[in-house]
Amino acid sequence: MRRFPDGFLWGTATAAHQVEGANTSSDLWLMEMMKDSVFAEPSGDACDHYHRYPSDIALLKALGFGVYRFSIEWARIEPEEGFFSAAALDHYRRMIASCLAQGVVPMVTFHHFTAPLWFTRDGGWEDARSVGRFARYCERAGKALGDLVDYACTINEANVPIMVTMMREAVGVAGGGGKRVRALAEAARLSGGEAGRFAPYLSGDGHAATPNLIAAHRKAYGVLKPLAKGPVGMTVALNDFQADDGGEALRDMANKAINEQFLESLKGDDFVGVQTYTRVRFGKSGVLPVPDGAERTQMGYEFYPEALEATIRQAARVSGCPVIVTENGIGTEDDTRRIAYTRRALDGVLRALADGVDVRGYIHWSLLDNYEWLEGYRPKFGLVEVDRATQLRKPKPSAYWLGEVAKANQL
Ligand code: FCB
Repeated sequence: MRRFPDGFLWGTATAAHQVEGANTSSDLWLMEMMKDSVFAEPSGDACDHYHRYPSDIALLKALGFGVYRFSIEWARIEPEEGFFSAAALDHYRRMIASCLAQGVVPMVTFHHFTAPLWFTRDGGWEDARSVGRFARYCERAGKALGDLVDYACTINEANVPIMVTMMREAVGVAGGGGKRVRALAEAARLSGGEAGRFAPYLSGDGHAATPNLIAAHRKAYGVLKPLAKGPVGMTVALNDFQADDGGEALRDMANKAINEQFLESLKGDDFVGVQTYTRVRFGKSGVLPVPDGAERTQMGYEFYPEALEATIRQAARVSGCPVIVTENGIGTEDDTRRIAYTRRALDGVLRALADGVDVRGYIHWSLLDNYEWLEGYRPKFGLVEVDRATQLRKPKPSAYWLGEVAKANQL
């Protein structure tokens, strides 16, 4: 079988902080700009997508895609606790309307890594008040935008804090990691917060954040369900965890804590968003290095597109929800490898479909070359190249190739 089911969703994704530019009320803006930052470079103007969204959506449509997954920025919508910016909400309403006017289905993520500075200064997701704070924001945004939202994702990769924390512990820098700890202390000081409370999503304590993130998704699902026009779900970062050489116990531990406790918490949701890039192999005493001779991506991890098939099957089995692949892609300077990677990943989607797994769509990360968090602009995940001096967009061969696959609905 080479055809995808009728109505299969084809799209591309971005996230506000990575493409919009000047996200100045966010926690990461402060952390990127400070002396001795842990970020390779600041996000700056990014791809100026905040202003250029109409032509970027038109480009995505012209390439052949029908869905645009993007995030709305909490830090713009609630830049100070309790102050909700009507102007920011209007902006996102225009953006969603622009999708609809151009015949593109909007999939809106309510939280994609960044948060308002006030939230992170005050304990972020490690403080139990995060649950109510996030629900209040979702309610305001849901009331302003929900009638136009075809698909809603509450939190992007709610399991990333625990994943990052456990990986940090596995390499023996628990609580230490000098530069990270100093940066958090300095960010607390600069933002006028209490030492030890500054807790950003990607570099805080995932053990403390996890129960709040799971509770926040459940509460936000309840809030958004009556407000959003269409399905509501959450996305999960799923590595294909494998065992080698006596690594079964460690693999199972990671699998339980990082993948399955989140997937189990989604039972009854409208969909689960699967976001997969590679596999991680465990040996007896920890994570194994990338096998000798294996190809690596720009992120350092293994080129292993088959991971997607495994995680789709796992997500469907454990959550019981229909699956939408909400992110999959590769950081590479060699666009022919992007095509090879995506073709093999889609082969895996077809195998899962042939076995009756309910997969509803494939959304590629990313539409644009963009700001890859700690790594800055070096990794190239885009189907479309962006000249950051001129902001000119130039689709790569992979963009035309995947656009044709989308239009034909077959591989
Ligand atoms: C995912 C993130 C996304 C991007 C890709 C490469 O974990 O959701 O923002 O950074 O990885």
